[in-house]
Amino acid sequence: MATRGAWGSNTGFILAAVGGAVGLGNLWGFAYSASQGGGAAFVVLYFGFVLFVGVPVLTAELVIGRHTKRSPIAALAAVGGDRMKWLGVFFVLVGFGILSFYSVIMGWTGRLLVDFVRGAVPEDTAAHFGAISEGIGAIVAHFVGMIITILIIVRGVQRGIERVSVVLMPTLFFLIASLAVWAATLSGSGPGYAFYLQPELSELFEARTITGAAGQAFFSLSLGMGAMITYASYLPGRGSLPAKAGLIALSDTLVAFVGGLVTFPVIFHFGLQQEVSDSAIGALFIAVPRGLLSFGAAGQYVGIVFFSTLYIAALTSAISLLEVVSSAAIDSLGFSRSRAGWLGGAAIALAGIPGALSSDWVGFLFQLVGQACLVLGGLLLALIVGYVWKDSARAELLAGFDHPGLASAWIWLLRTVVPVMLAVTLYFSVVALGPVARALFD
Ligand code: PHE
Repeated sequence: MATRGAWGSNTGFILAAVGGAVGLGNLWGFAYSASQGGGAAFVVLYFGFVLFVGVPVLTAELVIGRHTKRSPIAALAAVGGDRMKWLGVFFVLVGFGILSFYSVIMGWTGRLLVDFVRGAVPEDTAAHFGAISEGIGAIVAHFVGMIITILIIVRGVQRGIERVSVVLMPTLFFLIASLAVWAATLSGSGPGYAFYLQPELSELFEARTITGAAGQAFFSLSLGMGAMITYASYLPGRGSLPAKAGLIALSDTLVAFVGGLVTFPVIFHFGLQQEVSDSAIGALFIAVPRGLLSFGAAGQYVGIVFFSTLYIAALTSAISLLEVVSSAAIDSLGFSRSRAGWLGGAAIALAGIPGALSSDWVGFLFQLVGQACLVLGGLLLALIVGYVWKDSARAELLAGFDHPGLASAWIWLLRTVVPVMLAVTLYFSVVALGPVARALFD
């Protein structure tokens, strides 16, 4: 077997993993979900879910990855025997499916970025979005995103993924912080914050709010499909995995929160609430550009910064998705890295074409693979680590983390709270498949 890649430094690993986690889900899904159900109550629920379900599952993925030093298929076979490798195969298919629609959305982002750079965003941003989101243009933008992603993956873990993350992630943090400061100066910022964060306690106990927070957290943290197993498989040495999991989850959640502090003031400054309540995509790709247009030249600069931020976020996530697929082909089929990257990437590019022709298909895939499958994957992982593999998992966790009591609490969470919460979430995310599936045929 060819020598496996490894991270050059701990910071490199953290930035790459945060890059995988921080993505369109943070900047597009989080604030939208908060505004649709619960406001600040949603945010609190989300934090709780990240802490008690997200971090334990993330830790489990890091433990499996570092212990086995394999990509998901081989890693799960090592953990649970040959039968378990099918869960790894499922993970790789989910990664494939997510990237096939994620890259399409990344393409829309890239297209709007180019339009802002050229100063060519038309007044009617809704019609413009309609035109660029489906058709040849959308296919081209999706292919361009896939090619950039492939070019980074084939350069390897350290020279490709790590190098890019170390530059792009600090840039992203800086850009989003600047945007939040700018948004605070807008006259609509007060009502915007209020709409985003107004606690709606009545909505807090609705199943929709609770499971919405759960599904959003899973997607945002990239859990339940082996991305974090894969990245942790390149971790050399020891060190505390819960500390890493905590840092990744905290950064991801912070970016999501700050993302809302950017989007909502813009929307309220221009009274664009209607677009937002229609859809999350409307908020990002229609309302925000429309708001920015009325600023003239300044708006153009902000638009460039805003869509660059989104593109960076999307790209580093796309990289982590393609790495799951490629590393599986490398480990399980014996492909070279460049063959795995190009073949896997080309197959995903082709599979993404239906999404570039119909945004309903994107919505359906998001609900199916981006929600239901991730939650199912996380549920199975929690059960495997909590019940089948717990002794080795405990030993691996304790290497570099000398807190036996916390290790026991972690296993306990994986056996109880986590599977119960995820089973309920799974039920609701399957129920939510109905409407998005029907939209396909309208
Ligand atoms: N976490 C990414 C986001 O928020 C999406 C993603 C999901 C990436 C699963 C990898 C794996 O946009």
